[in-house]
Amino acid sequence: MHRIGIVGAVSFIAVASATTALATPTVHPQTTAAGARFAAEHPGPVRSLDAVAHRGASAYAPENTLAAIDEAAARGAVTAEIDVQLTADDELVIMHDATLTRTTDVEERFPGRAPYDVADFTMDEIRELDAGSWFDDSFEGEPVPTLGEALDRLEEHDLNLFLELKQPALYPGMEELVADEITDRRHWMRRNPPWQPRRLVVQSFDWRVTERSKELMPSVPHALLGRVAEDRLDEFGWADLINPNHTTIDAEYVDLLHESGFEIMPYTINDRARMDAVLEMGVDGFITDHPDIGRAAIDDFSGDRNPRAPIVVPPARPAA
Ligand code: G3P
Ligand code: CA
Repeated sequence: MHRIGIVGAVSFIAVASATTALATPTVHPQTTAAGARFAAEHPGPVRSLDAVAHRGASAYAPENTLAAIDEAAARGAVTAEIDVQLTADDELVIMHDATLTRTTDVEERFPGRAPYDVADFTMDEIRELDAGSWFDDSFEGEPVPTLGEALDRLEEHDLNLFLELKQPALYPGMEELVADEITDRRHWMRRNPPWQPRRLVVQSFDWRVTERSKELMPSVPHALLGRVAEDRLDEFGWADLINPNHTTIDAEYVDLLHESGFEIMPYTINDRARMDAVLEMGVDGFITDHPDIGRAAIDDFSGDRNPRAPIVVPPARPAA
């Protein structure tokens, strides 16, 4: 469903061309009085809703693998979410748990290496693991990918990415390695128009590390995972989205986030009725193991986005 009108598009183009010479904003436009005034006076296009494929399309393929990314694309996803951690030899690796036991055959391959923390294994060792058989025999031999391999595969499919910095407290400085990897790749640093789902969002439950990552990549949208208390929203003006567990939100909270300048895409919703319910609350999308069901819910949704998330084009700054 397309909710952008010609007027919105023309408005964006005019605003964008007026601001192309400006430096990348480091604060959310809504955090300044000028930004809030600008947004109110220049209603722009509405970003299309998105059903983000959680850990890839993890209902249909082993989570956080290239197969799950392939499946996300095959199931009509526009965006995939994956989790990144750090190996013993400082390689960025795609894995949800801090240990390798649940989603690989590490205990068979490396007996006696308990507790099997990701941080205790080199990337060469992790490359020996089977990350597919636990899910289904048809995925036997599916490897654990590096972040670089996942970025390549996402780009091949023209998929957007929600990249979660998973348990960064275990890996001091991981956000700097992630920023190096991303900023080296022009594709991921390119912005897409505000009516399209975002090309890249970096997110974490660790809000301090999320802020540090935003400082390293100011032009990349960042999301706080978890529910931020109403009286603390002012502390996070640098963030672009707040993505709470879907069980913790209601329409009032969604409205408050929008009024405060944030988008909201809750996790992890696998039930169609619940997808419909959060869309009615006015969310900007949601994260799901079933991107195909999510896409159908979005396509069937006929309600208004009210209030919509504010435009993301920054206000013009006076010439020095
Ligand atoms: O994208 C948010 C969601 O992935 C957070 O939960 O535990 O699946 O990483 P988790
Ligand atoms: Ca995640």
